[in-house]
Amino acid sequence: MTKTSKDLSPRTKTVQAEIGTDTAYGSVPPALYLSSTYRWPSVAHKGEYDYGRTNNPNRDGLSHVLSALEDGAGAVITSSGMAAIDLVFNLLSVDDLILAPHDCYGGTHRLLTHRAKQGRLRVEFVDQGDAKALTAAMANNPKLVLIETPSNPLMRIVDIAKITKAAKAVEALVMVDNTFLSPARQRPLALGADIVVHSTTKYLNGHSDIVGGAVVAKSAEHVEALEWWANCIGVTGAAFDSYQTLRGLRTLALRMDAAEGNALAIAKMLKKHKAVSKVYYPGLRSDPGYKLMKAQQDGPGAMLSFELKGGCEAAVALAENVALFQLAASLGGVESLICQPSTMTHRGMEETARLEAGITDSLLRLSVGIEAEADLIKALEQGLSAIS
Ligand SMILES: Cc1ncc(COP(=O)(O)O)c(C=O)c1O
Repeated sequence: MTKTSKDLSPRTKTVQAEIGTDTAYGSVPPALYLSSTYRWPSVAHKGEYDYGRTNNPNRDGLSHVLSALEDGAGAVITSSGMAAIDLVFNLLSVDDLILAPHDCYGGTHRLLTHRAKQGRLRVEFVDQGDAKALTAAMANNPKLVLIETPSNPLMRIVDIAKITKAAKAVEALVMVDNTFLSPARQRPLALGADIVVHSTTKYLNGHSDIVGGAVVAKSAEHVEALEWWANCIGVTGAAFDSYQTLRGLRTLALRMDAAEGNALAIAKMLKKHKAVSKVYYPGLRSDPGYKLMKAQQDGPGAMLSFELKGGCEAAVALAENVALFQLAASLGGVESLICQPSTMTHRGMEETARLEAGITDSLLRLSVGIEAEADLIKALEQGLSAIS
């Protein structure tokens, strides 16, 4: 399989990834290799591929393009976003401290909390937007700092370069979960981070029809260690999922542009609506994250959340009845979704931690898709007037 050229623009890299590389039949898009095992030329030598858990041409094709898009030394494709995050923890020893955002994805919070309960790592959750709290936490000498920006679901933005500088001063590794934006809007390795993780289930695949993950590392040494662990513990992704993800990835730039335009229009409408008490979208000039978003990102993305004046009851009524927005967890697909994070995406988080992070029952999260803007606005306006 060929690697993508460094000189091409990201959009061309994604469209052209692995195109025209098939040597067997001249197929233009790459073929799907489902085989779990590969013939050895001789007992002393294995070929480029030998066993599906260890390596696979479809995983390689996807890892090459993701690594190129994130400016990494390489990428490891995993079976889910959670597998990607957990894989990175294998770089640590049991006594090592992880500094994580107090408002991270509920599944990440659950993983860290339960691994810590098992004594397999130590974790400290901190509000990374609070400079004083962050400085105090850095004094505890973390070995890994996890950043999730914008945060899920409150869309809080933290300064990757600034946190990375503080982490480097205490020799901690920095890992950024870039799931919410994708490399089309944010490239954390260029801002100083060491590792980027993705739930490829979301924007990278973009069609809500696979579950997968990826870890991209800046140093070849980390890539090698992560590849070793991924094979050792068997968390590498399925060939079919990699094939699908590469197919979906080709339209990432177009999907992001369309979804982001819709999200901005929806955020502006919600901000003015009398039934809405608060909108969390860094694309709005009034949002506290707007300035940092402009400096750090290539756009605000297409995720937003909001609260209703009618509280939890109104939120549930809207979520269950609004047209076009499917009531479902996950995000980043071409179709629009609505969810109540407290009972859906963040239910794995303990209630006190959830409320401390500001995730109340009256909060709704939208993953805005690429449907026609006017249709989405109309559906939400009708849904809101039905509950008012
Ligand atoms: C920010 C973020 N990171 C990681 C994950 C986990 O990904 P997966 O569901 O593919 O395991 C999610 C899932 O929603 C997420 O939103």
